[in-house]
Amino acid sequence: MRTRASNPFALGVASGNPQEDSVVLWTRLASDPLNDGGMGAAGDIEIPLEIATNSSFTNVIQSTQAVAEARYAHSVHHVVTGLQPNTYYWYRFSYRGYSATGRTLTAGNRGDVRFAFVNCQNLQEGFYPVYRDIAQDRSLDLVVHLGDYIYESAPAPGGPRKHRTKAPVDLASFRNRHADYKMDRDLQAAHAAHPWIFNWDDHEVENDYAGGTSWYDQAAFARKRAGSYQAYYEHMPLPPDFLQPKPFDDVTLYGKVSYGDLLQFLVLDVRQYRTLQPCGDSLTNCPERYDTKNDILGSEQEEWLKSNLSAESPRWNVIANSIFMLEYDHDPGYYVDGWDGYIHSRKRLFEHLYDNRVPNPVVISGDIHAAWVANLKYHPDFPLEAFERDDSITIATEFIGTSVTSTLSSGWVSTYRGALPKNPHVKYFDERSGGYTRCIVTPDNFRAEYKLAQNVADRLSPVKTVVTFDVAAEDNPNLRQGATMMETLTDVKLVEPEPDYRVVGWRWAEGYGAGKEGYWLLPRQLKLPDGSYVEFEQLKRG
Ligand SMILES: [Fe+2]
Repeated sequence: MRTRASNPFALGVASGNPQEDSVVLWTRLASDPLNDGGMGAAGDIEIPLEIATNSSFTNVIQSTQAVAEARYAHSVHHVVTGLQPNTYYWYRFSYRGYSATGRTLTAGNRGDVRFAFVNCQNLQEGFYPVYRDIAQDRSLDLVVHLGDYIYESAPAPGGPRKHRTKAPVDLASFRNRHADYKMDRDLQAAHAAHPWIFNWDDHEVENDYAGGTSWYDQAAFARKRAGSYQAYYEHMPLPPDFLQPKPFDDVTLYGKVSYGDLLQFLVLDVRQYRTLQPCGDSLTNCPERYDTKNDILGSEQEEWLKSNLSAESPRWNVIANSIFMLEYDHDPGYYVDGWDGYIHSRKRLFEHLYDNRVPNPVVISGDIHAAWVANLKYHPDFPLEAFERDDSITIATEFIGTSVTSTLSSGWVSTYRGALPKNPHVKYFDERSGGYTRCIVTPDNFRAEYKLAQNVADRLSPVKTVVTFDVAAEDNPNLRQGATMMETLTDVKLVEPEPDYRVVGWRWAEGYGAGKEGYWLLPRQLKLPDGSYVEFEQLKRG
């Protein structure tokens, strides 16, 4: 008799790297996902794959066999070609009487692009109401993941959920860890609903790693990194380019996805090629921070990036980055794991954007577990002092999305808040975690809607827009106005203006985290363009 546990599609399906005529379709056969997949010593397995133009599969346009490769944990990376641009397709894998279905959408030239960007989804810190919301939003064209898809930490008590596999150190344990995440139903639904493109950050491998260097255990690191890179490939709808030039010691994650004249995504890899963080990876401003040897992209990737950014580039040039690019004076000190540790890489990029009149760059980033909006500053004569000068221009706008679940400690919150007056290029800061950013791009405007789940400890939590920013298109870098706050959630009551939120202490009485202290932010004030304020209540774990 067949049991639920034997479903070989327990990790779901996914599509990725949408192009005008192709897309990558993914699944991994795994009947026992948390224990090496359960496929035993089986060799490559061919499984039927149908591609249709409707959800009922009455109009199948391709019917083929996809290969679940034994060497890659029986994962499938099937590149479908010969597709039409801007077209929805449904795909269905079948095996042993089970089937699994997803929907995808090809890229193409079009009047608008709608996408969600997400990052930092530590499952020990919450459920994924964010992904339920994304799965239900059928108007999205794609999802962009900016890294920390998994966390490499050991199982820990006290949160809404717990890792079910041990802290990964090699290929086998990274496979199990990825499977633990991929078993989440809301995450699966979001993958099945839309094509995704991928960046990564450090926690796919190890906290703050830099290229081939670990801050923790260098002797074990080469094996750990290669194992994590392979398991990452095996669980994502990545294109074959990823396997170049030397799997899995040297892989290619960076790449481009284009939507005609309107927009291109340039996905960066700021982990694999970076030099070691200067100043001992601390919050500081040591002389080494100014050394030109610090490099976050590596010369090959930097040349590739520049070659894709010119005056002839599309209207919007979205740089999908994982860790923040803005300068932030922490008063005192700089966060050298971000681009503040690699200021000459940033300078060269901004110089290129300015000198080549690259139209409308927008940087999207993650990593910090908080929402930020900042204008990125450039001055042709004082490029390294641009963020401190009043006469600098806005070369780009950076939208940093808050985490899907991962929290920000109260120490960091007060550090960031305290330093805001020293950083006037930051237009918005909101420390609440558990959300995502939905973007609507037209030829004239780039809109970013910041969304928050009310409580990620509740799988069914509502998700609401809390603030919206617009960037008006302006091809002349000397005239860019940067981000403007447009509107905020309307379905909350208006209250009298107050200078700031109040912090109210509380303690969990029962359920997860019982006895743990936390705090309410109540009310949190957001100012509307017309001068009025709204409040939004948000439960936040301490
Ligand atoms: Fe993170």
